[in-house]
Amino acid sequence: MNFLYNIRLAIAGWDMLFFDNTQYITEVTQSEDWNRGKYLTDGPAHCGTCHTPRNLLGGERTDDYMQGALLGTWYAPDITPNPHTGIGNWSVDRLTTYLQTGSDGFAVAAGPMAEAVEHSFQYYSTPDLQAIGTYLKSLAASDHKPGKPMIMSEAASANAALGYEVNCYACHGLEGEGIEGMVTAFAGNHRMLSDDPTNLIHAMLMGTRAPHTEARQAAAGMPSFAWKMSDQEVADILNYVRNSWGNGAPAVTANQVAEMRAAPGAHEKLSAPKTQALQ
Ligand code: HEC
Ligand code: HEC
Repeated sequence: MNFLYNIRLAIAGWDMLFFDNTQYITEVTQSEDWNRGKYLTDGPAHCGTCHTPRNLLGGERTDDYMQGALLGTWYAPDITPNPHTGIGNWSVDRLTTYLQTGSDGFAVAAGPMAEAVEHSFQYYSTPDLQAIGTYLKSLAASDHKPGKPMIMSEAASANAALGYEVNCYACHGLEGEGIEGMVTAFAGNHRMLSDDPTNLIHAMLMGTRAPHTEARQAAAGMPSFAWKMSDQEVADILNYVRNSWGNGAPAVTANQVAEMRAAPGAHEKLSAPKTQALQ
């Protein structure tokens, strides 16, 4: 997986290289818009390259089409119309705005999705993106269920709240509201509640950034907190945002953080604060 993923990201012009030249066969029972959407989704935009899990031979698992897949140190979520884990509550217009600008005003694309938006989808025409939305919204919803929320101890929650206020709130907001179109909101954002916390841990350990698009030029960045926080501290702060402001999600464990810290590019927590000499 890592191997495929690295190559994929290394190739800037992946649109051309992955372009599938086979003749598209129109489904006559469906609208023109739907057919265009299916053609674009499976052909030039190849959303399934990331969002459909693969079998052992590297082929996309058709039974799990668009139901979410792990890409090394990122997770491409379920984008079937499942209301809990997918895009069931997204309108076609909302999806179009997300693909065109990198944000629906609430969630902001990070990692490989930010790259796909920046290098490719922002250049699609609005009708083409709407066609992709029409097609995706017509798929059968996955049967994934939301995970069972953990119960965080009051002490851990109070401690993490303080950590959140010091480290996160300038960007993600005191009430987890984010900054519209620039920084992801946590409150009410089901993407932050996923059973698979890969993207959240990734952002904490390696930092990340929003895409730079014609419509949203700020391309805000998030620093890495790997040098500052232990595995447990990272887990605690993520559990706090996943279980505050009306959110509820299963626990992220220190072990999950440790596994990702072992990935290339991540850092150990520093043992002594660098600012000591200044005090
Ligand atoms: C290079 C890999 C890649 C490709 C290609 C890709 N995606 Fe994504 N997508 C991701 C990742 C990773 C995320 C998670 C981003 C995040 O955590 O902010 C994501 C997130 C999303 C989301 C946000 C879901 C949410 O609830 O916040 C939508 C919608 C989406 N992708 C749709 C698409 C569509 C439609 C296509 C094709 C037009 C596509 N993606 C192509 C990797 C990809
Ligand atoms: C300087 C601004 C800034 C600070 C400080 C910051 N972030 Fe971020 N964060 C961002 C940006 C920008 C992104 C990437 C775009 C996006 O997904 O919003 C991001 C993304 C994330 C993501 C991944 C979202 C996804 O789409 O998958 C998580 C989780 C996250 N931040 C958590 C935190 C936590 C917890 C803290 C505090 C320890 C923090 N951030 C501090 C700006 C910031």
